[in-house]
Amino acid sequence: MSIKEPKIIRNKQEMRNWSRSMRSQGKTIGFVPTMGYLHQGHLSLITESQKHTQLTVVSIYVNPGQFAVNEDLSTYPSDLLGDIEKLKSLPNGVDVVFNPQNLYHYGEFGVMRRNFKDEKIVSCLEGEVGFGHETWVRVENLEKGMCGMSRPVFFRGVASVVAKLFNIVEPDVAVFGKKDYQQWKIIQRMVRDLDFDVKVIGSELMRDEDGLAMSSRNVHLSPQQRKQALSISRSLFEAKSAAKKGETICSELRRSVIECIEFAGGKIDYVEIVDQESLEAVEEIKNGVVVCIAAWFGKVRLIDNMEIDAS
Ligand code: PAF
Repeated sequence: MSIKEPKIIRNKQEMRNWSRSMRSQGKTIGFVPTMGYLHQGHLSLITESQKHTQLTVVSIYVNPGQFAVNEDLSTYPSDLLGDIEKLKSLPNGVDVVFNPQNLYHYGEFGVMRRNFKDEKIVSCLEGEVGFGHETWVRVENLEKGMCGMSRPVFFRGVASVVAKLFNIVEPDVAVFGKKDYQQWKIIQRMVRDLDFDVKVIGSELMRDEDGLAMSSRNVHLSPQQRKQALSISRSLFEAKSAAKKGETICSELRRSVIECIEFAGGKIDYVEIVDQESLEAVEEIKNGVVVCIAAWFGKVRLIDNMEIDAS
């Protein structure tokens, strides 16, 4: 198997120049945005992207704009060299790793600065003034519930950085994991509403053999917490099977999910059964729904979900 070295680009103008030059040669570009610390789930997004386009760009950028000041930005895991090795091991490699140092503007006054690993971190606080970054994309309804409740600046940060990345990379296709179901729907809606010329594809969630949804944050679980966290996927599979056997009342399904996770020692952030398109809570399963969960095991917040289609 030949190992393909990706081109590493750190500068946004260089990234844009590369994309434009490839497109002028008639090549199509697939894009997988990530925050690094890649696992099999990310690699599956890349494989999906490669089904649709000739070239692939993967971005690795831990976006400070989507973390509130009390969240885990400073402990978010990273391993750039390890990531590049994993990308090289893919059968088709990838063409470009876009790894910018910083994507935000920092004003001289008014915008809070924090130093973390020599990087300037954009503040996520509302109501600041200054000449720094002040333009945000909000997908007003879809961002309200679920993760948006406990992480109020998260989707604003995600939509904004993805809009920035689309403007820099100019891809034809972008692939997002269905593990972050709400994020995937928000990006689809942003692309529709703001007329980005990008086809957004949702790629299936990947699980470890024991059922735990793959996530960069899993590395922070102790062996005991990892065992406890299996209650999340177990409760989802049980909910799906109960629905298939005829349980259509969402409050019942939700109650069983909550019981299963709490019994294992998890702390529920939310358990919602929502319509697959509007992400609004439903009372009875008639059309396709998705059961979405966020739960804490110690200091680690995990999310997972499962689609249940009407039978
Ligand atoms: O899903 C993620 O890793 C991030 O939210 C994304 C889409 C790369 C934006 O920072």
